[in-house]
Amino acid sequence: MDIKNHYKDLILTESQIINNQHRDAVGGLWEEIGKLQFEFLVKNGLKPEHSLLDVGCGALRGGIHFINYLYTKNYYGIDINPFLMDAGIKELEKASLLEKKPYLLVNGDFQFDLFNQKFDFALAQSLFTHLPLNHIHRCLINISKVLKEGGKFYATFFETENKFALDGIIQSNEIVTYLDSDPYHYHFSVFTYLIEGLPLTVQYIGDWKHPRNQKMVCFSK
Ligand SMILES: C[S@@+](CC[C@H](N)C(=O)[O-])C[C@H]1O[C@@H](n2cnc3c(N)ncnc32)[C@H](O)[C@@H]1O
Repeated sequence: MDIKNHYKDLILTESQIINNQHRDAVGGLWEEIGKLQFEFLVKNGLKPEHSLLDVGCGALRGGIHFINYLYTKNYYGIDINPFLMDAGIKELEKASLLEKKPYLLVNGDFQFDLFNQKFDFALAQSLFTHLPLNHIHRCLINISKVLKEGGKFYATFFETENKFALDGIIQSNEIVTYLDSDPYHYHFSVFTYLIEGLPLTVQYIGDWKHPRNQKMVCFSK
């Protein structure tokens, strides 16, 4: 599959959504990765009264669990792809969760200030894995403006321990990552560089039991 720009250009028809093809479009393992991200944030302090920003929320694989758990109007999802967002709304209808009134925004420029809200928690599950470094930088600059003092932004990434590796790295049975094409790997030190001068600190979390070997990093305000 040519996944360069896959998510931005991904078009799903009504019948594909009815057949749940959006679940494969965000990488499959719908139940497993949905629950994994939810349980991770709860273990790390997410409470129903908190506000959560889900960056690259896709078709709400994790969103369904967060929306169910959080108080009404406390979930904010943003994604570049309107078809995945539509599929997410259908998932919410199926799960009778529309009454929790999540805020959902189609936007590819990380314009989080459009929500007019400050966040206790933010999450980017399998987003940085598809982004070149300058896009991650924009995301972090904008996140630093909307996190509350003490707020946390957890993000997953594919890791390389060798900054200068030019060959693909086998991350799991199915995934090979690259320095300069999607799916991308990064050396942890790039995050330290990207937040220089921003009101953020960064902490390496590493393994969090992701089935495809994505690692976790935490940015705190
Ligand atoms: C692998 S999916 C993960 C979706 C979701 N986080 C999950 O765990 O199911 C990556 C998501 O990132 C979104 N995405 C890619 N570039 C983006 C951007 N610039 N702004 C917002 N979302 C973006 C894609 O549309 C897609 O929904």
